[in-house]
Amino acid sequence: MSVPPGGLILLTGANGYIASVTIHLFLARGYSIRGTVRSIRRNAWMKTYFGPRFELVEVPNIHSPGVFENGDLLRGVDGIVHMAMDMDMNPQNQGIIENTIQSNLRLLEAAARESRVKTACALPTTGVPYKIDSSTWNEEAIEQTSKPWNNEGNPRWHGIKLYAASKARGEQEAFAWARKHQPSFSFNTVVPNVNFGIAISHENMSYRSTAAVLDGVVKGYPAAPSVLPSQWYVDVEDTALLHLAALTLDDVHDERLLAFAGKYSWTQIMEILHRRYPGKIGLGALSNNAEPEVVDAGEVDNQRSIEVLKMMGKEGFTTLEDTLVKAVDTILENQAKNVPKTRIDLYYESVAGRVVGS
Ligand SMILES: NC(=O)c1ccc[n+]([C@@H]2O[C@H](COP(=O)([O-])OP(=O)(O)OC[C@H]3O[C@@H](n4cnc5c(N)ncnc54)[C@H](OP(=O)(O)O)[C@@H]3O)[C@@H](O)[C@H]2O)c1
Repeated sequence: MSVPPGGLILLTGANGYIASVTIHLFLARGYSIRGTVRSIRRNAWMKTYFGPRFELVEVPNIHSPGVFENGDLLRGVDGIVHMAMDMDMNPQNQGIIENTIQSNLRLLEAAARESRVKTACALPTTGVPYKIDSSTWNEEAIEQTSKPWNNEGNPRWHGIKLYAASKARGEQEAFAWARKHQPSFSFNTVVPNVNFGIAISHENMSYRSTAAVLDGVVKGYPAAPSVLPSQWYVDVEDTALLHLAALTLDDVHDERLLAFAGKYSWTQIMEILHRRYPGKIGLGALSNNAEPEVVDAGEVDNQRSIEVLKMMGKEGFTTLEDTLVKAVDTILENQAKNVPKTRIDLYYESVAGRVVGS
């Protein structure tokens, strides 16, 4: 039921942050990748960057019916990692929940029609209820987004809730489909919290998604920490390795692997960064340091993921300090290069009322 050594893996949203690190790891371990992107023209650099065992296909919108049935998308594929996700977090986009559910199901149905697919693996995310284990879901986000937004409260937080509810409902329905239809492949999910760590090909990708937050801290944006208030971190390479485990270990079947390494607070992160990189971190102190930081009070049962990482030859999750050092080494090494701005840079600039570098 697992992907054979050197097998071909379809990975959706290949130009995303976690996807690009995952491709890097999978190729290094001898697998081949067929990556989907919304535009081959915009992502043509990937073929040169990743080399001959990487191919690109265009999937302009994962929410379009029939998009996974096109031509040769699944031909010869041994396993699937579904990472593409609308990350706009638009508070008005109530349809995102149903769209996410349907696109997950359509991909599973397409996989079930392709007899060679042995494993499918989706990547949801989760919010932080008090206690998380493999049987819990972000019911709070599901409940709070059961009706369209009434324009009250913080739009950004409602957008995040809608995103979290989409991921949770998409995952629930995917498991329900797999249990009902009993396809010939195993279906597993990897459920991470905040991914930090290396980022690749900055000249082409810049710092996307959560990688942009530490870049913002190095650049000195006071608003950067508020984008990801204290919760749990995971090293992005551990997330990638858990995906590989979900695809290649027979022992991992019908499972949710919680990629939660440990809690972080920004007080802790800033202490580590200033100690390890004296004089190099633009953000001096937390802007609200008069008030004690609210530290995440959740509990997560991550034992199974630690066990799975051990099966993959790793002692367990990477520590917070080592994860941060990997991220900041990458950022500092690339400061002299022409790394394009992201929309997160633009957000920091609008909040700070100034332009990066000015
Ligand atoms: N970063 C984290 O800490 C974290 C934590 C938990 C879960 N996750 C999950 O991990 C996955 C990857 O996230 P990421 O942080 O790496 O984000 P990312 O860098 O923004 O990647 C998202 C990817 O999805 C693609 N995409 C967005 N809307 C699409 C659509 N309608 N049709 C086709 N492709 C679409 C994007 O393409 P474009 O570049 O063309 O927009 C991009 O390739 C997502 O499923 C996310 O929910 C991330």
